[in-house]
Amino acid sequence: MTAYSSSFHAVEWRDHALHLLDQRALPHTHQVLSYTSAVDVADAIKDMVVRGAPAIGIAAAYGYALDALAGKDLASAFQVLAASRPTAINLFWALERMSALETEDPHTLVAEAKKIHQEDIAANLAMGQFGASLLGDNARIYTHCNTGALATGGHGTALGIIRSAMADGKIAQVYAGETRPWLQGARLTAWELMQDNIPVKLVCDGAAAQLFRQGEVDWVIVGADRITANGDVANKIGTYSLAVLAKYHGMKFMVAAPTSTFDLTLHSGNEIPIEQRPAQEVTSLNGQPIAPEGCDAINPAFDVTPADLIDAIVTEKGIVRQPNTRAIAEMMARL
Ligand code: MRU
Repeated sequence: MTAYSSSFHAVEWRDHALHLLDQRALPHTHQVLSYTSAVDVADAIKDMVVRGAPAIGIAAAYGYALDALAGKDLASAFQVLAASRPTAINLFWALERMSALETEDPHTLVAEAKKIHQEDIAANLAMGQFGASLLGDNARIYTHCNTGALATGGHGTALGIIRSAMADGKIAQVYAGETRPWLQGARLTAWELMQDNIPVKLVCDGAAAQLFRQGEVDWVIVGADRITANGDVANKIGTYSLAVLAKYHGMKFMVAAPTSTFDLTLHSGNEIPIEQRPAQEVTSLNGQPIAPEGCDAINPAFDVTPADLIDAIVTEKGIVRQPNTRAIAEMMARL
């Protein structure tokens, strides 16, 4: 396993406080905000200061530990953090893991949050190797949203696979979809890849079909916010259309996620709660209105890709090809 290093930290625990790189301001402004309470961390998650399923889980674990340090009621800390965003299961997974310790001891809880953080980095490095092994030489990859060091403890899920494959000399070109309305692809993925000298071309979301039609892409690789027992995947809005397009054009579709993203209590993606965000995120850009005044909009933050459109799900435990309930259960049971 290679070591992971990065010039920035999306989530950092230092001096008994949580420090978050404000992802709303990237790539042009680098501002780190500091937090000392669960309620403020919950607001940071809600407001997208920190985002990406694993990073949200890690931040929530530190938020819970912050209230233990302050001697506050941990049941309330759990509730306020759990109410911040509904779709990414990593949030609830991390909070359950913290509260399962049944302790109010801050030292123990800070140590557990750090462990969750470190384990996520290790999982991403393992996934990177598994995922890269699926790619041929000179691979051309299309990715969506941001699944990199900013969205995780470090290295990344889908972007971690791209990083590992780049280290193996296998990447010819990465296409990053801009990812309306928050533009995680344009603002965050392009920035991360350029810092690592990985060849990236930014494309409008609507350009994907034309690129696929021209045969410019070998694999679509994306992350996940929740994967159900049958292998259905909730991920950033726009993922489902990419999967349909990939199938139509005979391209391979890979999902990368740690096992903390799986929710085996749900049978299928139909049961996943999909976050609805404010209409203004669609009708304006950077606070500037782009639609007629009074225009209504809908803004689902995630969609569900059915398992039968997915060629491989990659976790830190290995690769599940043609995912289905049995194959997922077998992978999850591995040590
Ligand atoms: O709304 P966001 O930016 O939190 O959504 C993030 C995504 O959908 C990512 O693709 C997903 O969390 C996987 S990140 C490792």
